[in-house]
Amino acid sequence: MIATRFTERFGLAQPIALAPMAHVAGTELASAVSNAGALGLVGGGYAGTQGPERRAADELARCPPGRCGIGFITWALALDPAQLARALALRPACVFLSFGDPRPFAAEIHAAGVPLVCQIQDLVQLEAALAAGAAVVVAQGTEAGGHGARRATLPLVPEVADRLRERAPDTLLLAAGGIADGRGLAAALLLGADGAVIGTRFWAAREALTADAAIARGLAASGDETVRTAAIDALRGVPWPAEYSFRVLRNDLTAAWAGREAEAERQRGTLAAAYRAARERDDYAVAAAVAGEAIGLCSERESAATLVARIGAEAADLLRRGATLDFRKR
Ligand SMILES: Cc1cc2nc3c(=O)[nH]c(=O)nc-3n(C[C@H](O)[C@H](O)[C@H](O)COP(=O)(O)O)c2cc1C
Repeated sequence: MIATRFTERFGLAQPIALAPMAHVAGTELASAVSNAGALGLVGGGYAGTQGPERRAADELARCPPGRCGIGFITWALALDPAQLARALALRPACVFLSFGDPRPFAAEIHAAGVPLVCQIQDLVQLEAALAAGAAVVVAQGTEAGGHGARRATLPLVPEVADRLRERAPDTLLLAAGGIADGRGLAAALLLGADGAVIGTRFWAAREALTADAAIARGLAASGDETVRTAAIDALRGVPWPAEYSFRVLRNDLTAAWAGREAEAERQRGTLAAAYRAARERDDYAVAAAVAGEAIGLCSERESAATLVARIGAEAADLLRRGATLDFRKR
């Protein structure tokens, strides 16, 4: 077993957190991850601001009490801030905010005695996370599935680790983006993180809400077959701030709009109905199957417990072996 400041502070057996994935991480997946000794989070997604979606607070209410956290897309939470009070009343293990300024919500979260987790994509956002008094910073690299920005995990994590060591040594650091097995977790720890946030690997877990047709595409794909694009959000009319783009599996829609993001922006919202209809009929030639580069490391749909145990054990083994390696012989 690997003990880190993250496992100690959150009472975990493995230094792993489930990414709070919209439309993917519901009660079943979050509970399964927490029951396996890692930190499960339900995805609060757009907090209902982009049309009907599963209510994250309802999902959290059915998780093991106090053992799961909840994540929100920060700019969407700002459109319906009452969602936060509903979540805090359920005493989540943490509130995870990503994609927007966490500072307007920090006082309410601190007053509830709930740890604030801020996912950041660059050093400017690190400043906002520190000003918000984050207990945990998640440094997310561009390899990640779903929304993200430009920096890559490998250099971003140690750069953030160095800044935290100087400026906020009690603030924990998790790495996110491209971590799907024990090699990734071990690497994250060596880069200075206290653990890893894993999305794509759990997107393909048995307990995920992911549609079977999307998983089938994902498990057949290599890491080459994802793309980061702003065209989908423009065409479906979701108001993502300009600094974020969406990493998804390539499909007919991403191929048709490759290199035409400015034009997609001019046609904002024109595909909203067609996109929604494609999702409803599980047509992943048009709707996005949302996964990161780590999809190339996922070949089976397994239970969350199997994944947590294997990733933790592989990392522990690699770290033990690494300590005895003589690199001159390799
Ligand atoms: C399907 C999917 C949905 C996601 N939805 C959210 C979300 O609603 N809120 C959020 O903060 N991050 C979301 N993310 C990003 C994750 O928080 C995390 O940074 C990412 O999954 C880590 O990289 P990985 O996918 O390579 O493991 C999502 C990721 C995926 C794959």
